[in-house]
Amino acid sequence: MTETADLADRVRALPGMDRLLPTLDGLPPAFLVGGAVRDLLLAGQTVDIDVAIEGDARSAARTIVERLGGEMVEHERFGTATVRAGDLAVDLATTRRERYVEPGALPEVEPAGLSEDLGRRDFTINAMALGLSGDSLGVLEDPHDGREDLSDGVIRVLHGKSFVDDPTRLLRALRYEARFDFRMDDQTERLAREAAAGAGFSTVSGPRVRDELLDLLREPGAPAAIQRMRELSLDRALHPDLEADPELVASVQLASAETGADPVLAGLAALVSSNPRALGEWLEDLHLGRRENDAVARAAVKGPQLASTLR
Ligand code: CTP
Repeated sequence: MTETADLADRVRALPGMDRLLPTLDGLPPAFLVGGAVRDLLLAGQTVDIDVAIEGDARSAARTIVERLGGEMVEHERFGTATVRAGDLAVDLATTRRERYVEPGALPEVEPAGLSEDLGRRDFTINAMALGLSGDSLGVLEDPHDGREDLSDGVIRVLHGKSFVDDPTRLLRALRYEARFDFRMDDQTERLAREAAAGAGFSTVSGPRVRDELLDLLREPGAPAAIQRMRELSLDRALHPDLEADPELVASVQLASAETGADPVLAGLAALVSSNPRALGEWLEDLHLGRRENDAVARAAVKGPQLASTLR
């Protein structure tokens, strides 16, 4: 079987795809993108189905719902749409370019072709696309050699300013390293250390840091990610008084599994416990929600006893 035929089979096997694919007929070119392609290549399945349309994504979504039934939710602000029909759930977005006017701030976006859409992404393993329309079904678009990095276990940025443009990618790199047991290549790691020693996360809003940090703490391999956080001084980049302790994160997460406490918030409390007083304001700035904030702050003052308290 050719590679394209094999990938086409993997696409068809995704939930609801057998019904989605025929509805793309006559619409602008559609591609599976981002983590969905990565996971399909790695494991033959994916949790999220992200589709990029080289054209108007919301009008494509409307056509799909007319043909398929189900329902759609349009997200005005980003020009994207979610379609749900039975076991099918798909997010559609128009292919776009991004311009970072200020480091750390959300980028300005405008429609552009697929290659620019892939070129704006965080890492090579997330910068691939798989054709979904007509004869291009299963055709892999891989302009940044993501496939090779996927088989070599490498996390690699696409350009030298990636972490400065979007420092949340520093946390994403740790998360993917831990999840897949991958490693940043030397150049990417150097850029990560430089970004950490420079502006760090100071250019990013608290809620954006929160989302990536909680995603990281949600990974089964979170302690390994926290270990790397310390090695690369990314803890100090989050806050000069934050000292990441992977053993403590591991033990509180284990203990919370036993008691039914939230392992993600417990992991965050373990980080804050390195200096609860100095980190109080930083924690507030994450905008967790009052109850969660208070729970983390209360747990954090227990410091090294935190794990036994949870147990
Ligand atoms: N992305 C990016 N920079 C970010 C966040 C996301 O370039 N700071 C791109 C990546 O190409 C990523 C895609 O947007 O693959 C979707 O992001 P997200 O949903 O956060 O990640 P997934 O790829 O779906 O992977 P996972 O949720 O498994 O981490």
